Amino acid sequence: LRAGDPVYKTRFPDGQQGWLITGYEEAVEALKEPRFIKDFSKLYGGSMDGMSVFTQNMLFSDPPDHRRLRGLAQKAFTPRVIEGMKERIEEITDQLLDEMEQKKEINLIDDFAFPLPIIVICEILGVPSEDRDKFRIWSNSLIEGSSGEPGVSVYQHMNDFIRYLGEWFSRTRLETKDDLISKLIEAEEEGDRLTEKELYGLVTLLIIAGHETTVNLIGNTFLNLLKHPEQKELLRKKPELIGQAIEESLRFDGPVEFSTSRWAGENFQFAGKEISRGELVVVALNAANRDPDQFDDPEVFEISREKSPHLAFGTGIHHCLGAPLARLEGKIAIRRLLDRFPDLKLRIPESELKWRQGMIVRGVKEIP
Ligand code: HEM
Repeated sequence: LRAGDPVYKTRFPDGQQGWLITGYEEAVEALKEPRFIKDFSKLYGGSMDGMSVFTQNMLFSDPPDHRRLRGLAQKAFTPRVIEGMKERIEEITDQLLDEMEQKKEINLIDDFAFPLPIIVICEILGVPSEDRDKFRIWSNSLIEGSSGEPGVSVYQHMNDFIRYLGEWFSRTRLETKDDLISKLIEAEEEGDRLTEKELYGLVTLLIIAGHETTVNLIGNTFLNLLKHPEQKELLRKKPELIGQAIEESLRFDGPVEFSTSRWAGENFQFAGKEISRGELVVVALNAANRDPDQFDDPEVFEISREKSPHLAFGTGIHHCLGAPLARLEGKIAIRRLLDRFPDLKLRIPESELKWRQGMIVRGVKEIP
């Protein structure tokens, strides 16, 4: 498809007509194209105001709202601020590795890859540590569209989640601290910078992004190193390659398969195709990341690859806000894991690994 028709007209599983983009060059162009909009309510004369609290955030908005919403959270995620968290992330990583050392058998996802980014994002936001497990359940429910608990609906989880956020925000209003949630609530109280619904939307986005992505960066990188023992050896001999190894893993097996949806805001020609107003556009990020016109030997996992302008974090104005954090967590996690347990092996054949459901996330459920 990528070689023959990189901008492919199709009907998506939910019946919507649209375009699937698989070529690298076309993907970059689409992600930067302002006529592909994120807030589809505009197509019907509506506004973000009518949207659910889960979608009133920067990822589903266009300028000028996008600039304002992203600006409010940006300061907490600059490379310099994130670099300042290095020691704390190392501490959390070492603590998880200590706990793993006490166990006979481990599941690398549950025991390591999941808790690390959750603890970090919860600390940035200011979520009380005793409540972290609830966030994991709710976030999983939202992404997979199933509660995972017999007799419990996703709807019930969403209600519990919104109620929790409301109570948490009220407590924070009474007693502000030096965390991101206190700063966002201040912005909300000042009135015109952040509405209450947007506050819910932003916090939800950060929690989901913090739970559902970096876990798979850690998991997929580890699996690829196991599958390519010569690359693992190279990394052990040359630990300075860790940054490149993480970039290669992001390119080769990106945790986010597809971009979020965009819609054509008007009729126009794109990459030689006639696009009609209202049509859906989705970019297959991992297909673009293996485009042979952009990457030499794209099907080879090669941690010493020098330049890798992959699209695992997207590009354009919606380029991942959490990329510096995800990269730092990935580097610390993989380096320290390999240092401490250089000979970890899978307990089951690779073919028995179970991949997560859904179109968005690429990662396995467990790594025993
Ligand atoms: C946006 C991937 C980790 C926060 C995005 C997008 C991608 C992405 C592909 C753009 C989607 C689009 O344009 O349709 C990833 C990957 C991660 C990761 C692969 C881990 C390896 C994180 C983390 C956070 C985060 C840890 C924050 C805690 C965000 C936010 C946006 C975003 C807020 C929306 C940016 C905007 O609309 O301006 N991410 N992400 N991400 N990501 Fe990430």
